[in-house]
Amino acid sequence: MKLILLGAPGAGKGTQAERIAKVLNVPTISTGNILREAIRNGTEIGLKAKAFMDKGALVPDEVIIGIVAERVAQPDCAGGYILDGMPRTIPQAQALEAKGICMDAVVSIEIEDAVIESRMTGRRVCSGCGASYHISANPSKVEGICDTCGKELIIRKDDTPETVKNRLRVFHAETEALKDFYASLGRLKLVDGDQDIDDVTREILTAIGVEA
Ligand code: AP5
Ligand code: MG
Repeated sequence: MKLILLGAPGAGKGTQAERIAKVLNVPTISTGNILREAIRNGTEIGLKAKAFMDKGALVPDEVIIGIVAERVAQPDCAGGYILDGMPRTIPQAQALEAKGICMDAVVSIEIEDAVIESRMTGRRVCSGCGASYHISANPSKVEGICDTCGKELIIRKDDTPETVKNRLRVFHAETEALKDFYASLGRLKLVDGDQDIDDVTREILTAIGVEA
């Protein structure tokens, strides 16, 4: 199964990707997590991406397409994968198609901007594996520590209210059109993202025809 999770910043793509990946037993490819790791490691891609990410702008398409093409060619992706945060523009989606990277399903997690803005203030992410938590909706078992890898939880640099607003603007201007793109290919499913995390997971699994 090759699945794309579409949705605004804070819609719950990362949270759901982790859960669905466990059920499907496939890896998750989060371009945001890959870029943040590149920044931490001071790589060339990280240096290129940092200024864009800090202001909530999109990293250039060619950088993203290169990262994803390389990642999906790894052996652990042979049985499928989940793309979280890519594609983000029509050219990125066209590049996937042109490379023969055809997705089985595209799920858009639907949510209002106002809900997102309030959600983001409570988000904490793992400084090691990038897992996403929320101080009330999805707390870690031990405060400030990742359940999965034991590293410290931090606040993402681009989660300030001003940058979140900009990311939402960019989403509506550049990314939302992907819904029409995939609907015209007959692959789009819509899921209500404004419900309990478990209910969203159930709805996604139903949408892609998988028994939980
Ligand atoms: P990226 O890391 O992908 O950020 P994003 O799309 O802005 O999305 P987020 O990670 O903020 O949100 P999410 O949908 O994963 O939500 P989460 O599950 O954490 O990208 C960051 C930057 O990298 C971009 O701005 C850009 O610069 C660059 N970039 C990345 N990919 C790119 C690409 N393809 N092209 C160009 N540039 C790219 O949930 C949010 C919070 O809500 C959490 O606290 C969570 O616990 C909580 N939550 C989740 N679900 C629920 C629920 N149902 N109820 C209550 N709380 C919930
Ligand atoms: Mg995410």
